[in-house]
Amino acid sequence: MRLFIVSNRLPFTVTEKEGKIGFERSAGGLITGISDYLNSLKDSSFTKIEYIWTGWPGVAISKNLQDEVKQRCLSEFSAYPIFISHKNMENFYHGFCNKTIWPLFHCFPANTVYDEDFWDSYKQINEDFLEAIVNILKPDDILWIHDYHLMLLPKLVRERMPEVTTGFFLHIPFPPYDIFRLLPNAWRIEILEGLLGADLIGFHTIEYTQNFLRCVLRIMGHDNNIGEINTGDRILKADTFPMGINFEKFFAAQDNIQIQDEIESLKKHFGGIKTILSVDRLDYTKGILNRLEGYELFLEKNPNWHKKVAMLLIVVPSRIGVESYAKTKNKIDEIVGKINGRFGDIGWTPIQYQYKNLPFEQLTALYILSDIALITPLRDGMNLIAKEYVSTKRDKKGVLILSEMAGAAKELAEAIIINPNHKGEIARALEEAVEMSCQEQVRRNEIMQKRLSDYNVIRWAGDFIQELMDMIEKRKRFAVKLLSFSEEQVLLRDFKNAQSRIIFLDYDGTLMPFTKEPQDAKPNEKIIELLKLINEYPQTKIIITSGRDKETLTNWFERLNIWLIAEHGVWIKEKDLSWQLTKQLSNDWKPRLLPLLKMYVDRLPCSFIEEKEFSLVWHYRASDPELGSLRAKELMDDLTSLTANIDLQILPGSKVIEIRNSGINKGVAASYLLAKDEYDFVLAIGDDWTDEDLFKVLPQKAYSVKVGIGSSYARYNLRNYKEVVKLLKEMVE
Ligand code: UDP
Ligand code: G6P
Repeated sequence: MRLFIVSNRLPFTVTEKEGKIGFERSAGGLITGISDYLNSLKDSSFTKIEYIWTGWPGVAISKNLQDEVKQRCLSEFSAYPIFISHKNMENFYHGFCNKTIWPLFHCFPANTVYDEDFWDSYKQINEDFLEAIVNILKPDDILWIHDYHLMLLPKLVRERMPEVTTGFFLHIPFPPYDIFRLLPNAWRIEILEGLLGADLIGFHTIEYTQNFLRCVLRIMGHDNNIGEINTGDRILKADTFPMGINFEKFFAAQDNIQIQDEIESLKKHFGGIKTILSVDRLDYTKGILNRLEGYELFLEKNPNWHKKVAMLLIVVPSRIGVESYAKTKNKIDEIVGKINGRFGDIGWTPIQYQYKNLPFEQLTALYILSDIALITPLRDGMNLIAKEYVSTKRDKKGVLILSEMAGAAKELAEAIIINPNHKGEIARALEEAVEMSCQEQVRRNEIMQKRLSDYNVIRWAGDFIQELMDMIEKRKRFAVKLLSFSEEQVLLRDFKNAQSRIIFLDYDGTLMPFTKEPQDAKPNEKIIELLKLINEYPQTKIIITSGRDKETLTNWFERLNIWLIAEHGVWIKEKDLSWQLTKQLSNDWKPRLLPLLKMYVDRLPCSFIEEKEFSLVWHYRASDPELGSLRAKELMDDLTSLTANIDLQILPGSKVIEIRNSGINKGVAASYLLAKDEYDFVLAIGDDWTDEDLFKVLPQKAYSVKVGIGSSYARYNLRNYKEVVKLLKEMVE
């Protein structure tokens, strides 16, 4: 098995100086997580997984150096660079990724730019990634796509190489529906469709997973079952996988001589002073300004701590081309100057500020040395810095102050958890931290370290890949039932060779797609023409087997003079004859249930009641999908208890609930027709579970086909109504 990683950024950034190529480590949680996981694969003596990492090398590379870069990336890093020109990267990376998606997904709608050119570039670069990877992607690779830059890619891959197993992981928050919907309609649909192309979609926290599932329900209309989404033609899953770190690497860091030297030289500077560490990429989401204001308030309220504390502020340069980042940098410079000017003197600088990317050794030395880590993002997908800080504390001493807005706060509950929007809370947390007893520090860190070492980055990736494989098994189980090309050929041959044929066809969802208003799903000329052809085929009976009332079916199909079954088997109309009841039925129950259904119509806007002669149907397709699903569950409960002593069936269908007399169904009606004659070719096609009654009564060698993916009594599945129409055409052409 080969693991094929795709992310916008590669783990290194290529540098080009005077025609010479160099490689520098890239910054960010995604890079740390995936690199540490892949390194663990190299070191492991058990798992032999080959991998390749594809992405952008961080800069535009001149044409004459591209071959050399490609060759060195492959041999030194097992990486495959995707070259993107500076101009294309501008609208894609600085534009749609970092001026639209990044702020919106971090709940900064005021910073979000909606620009059609950005969107066009986003689509284009996702396609460029597709073109670059299809040349090297093998059908049996496991493709793992990462982060918000490439949300359209899973669908593009599925269309081009449907057999590839694809996972997607989002490293940033997925926003609540009310924020996500701020995107123009076409964009939000394409983004969701893009993501739904994956077999498994992972998020850091349960909140992001639920936000995503809610958007999928509200915008795409797909409900889920514990995260499993059935799009009608595929099953996929959304689940939570909080990314861990390489705990051992950080815990063992103290043994590294270079790190020991770093610590010694830091101690010379800060001996006897409580150090408060702050490390982030320069980003307005990280709450660096709030943190500084909180620190300022702490110094204001606690003069006794002056000269006894120092903040080590490390800001890592990031996304320099985006204005909001440049503005944040200016504000940080300003406020650092203000605080140092206000409180500092010759012998004491309250904030030691560095604007640079630190190598692992220096960063880890700072973690080990610092008494407190102050991490206050306004919103953060995970935040690995918090986890890394706790993991380096071999003596278990040190205090973590962490924002409740970071995904990591869900796992690090023993930290001092604060709301970063209140500088008073930050100042109070600092007061608590500087005074916290060693015993209490050890108690808290012990619990957090245990959790971090149990659920490390290897577990994180391992769990994701395992669940992806499980989804593939599931997909295979369903795929076995999908009518294959060769099975279709046998069906067509049997149809042609038969002496006498009977074909049962459900209507809604089988021959035509669902519409918001049921009357809009009227058959078009193409369908009428097709049914006519089947009806005229020698020795062939065709029966529309529908839940619709007999008036509608008469209206739509009378001119064809075909057989009809209405109200799920209550009425039968044989060719050339009039409608007849299959069984004497009573309607006494209707007045008792109508008021209840009317109450639900009042409680759910856009739902309505359809009254048929012997059944009542509550429709909610045009209603708010989320509320609709909730009300449908409540109505099912009410109906089940109200009808306990009445001979009725309550049938939840596709966005409908139908109530009708027991003992009547499509199977009973079909058995009556089947018993009337001999047939050597029987075919039944239907999409919802009222068709299951029909599939159950068919003779063993009959062909039965369920439309859509899902378990069924039918022998085969077809993905959607389009495939049904195609099959029927092939039969009669
Ligand atoms: N990091 C680094 N050098 C630095 C500062 C940070 O390599 O000077 C690494 C750090 O070890 C961490 C990552 O960058 O693994 C930051 O990840 P985090 O999830 O905290 O934030 P992100 O940058 O992904 O938003
Ligand atoms: C976050 C994102 C990553 C990104 C990193 C650094 O962690 O989730 O996808 O790589 O920030 O940002 P950059 O824009 O430099 O790649």
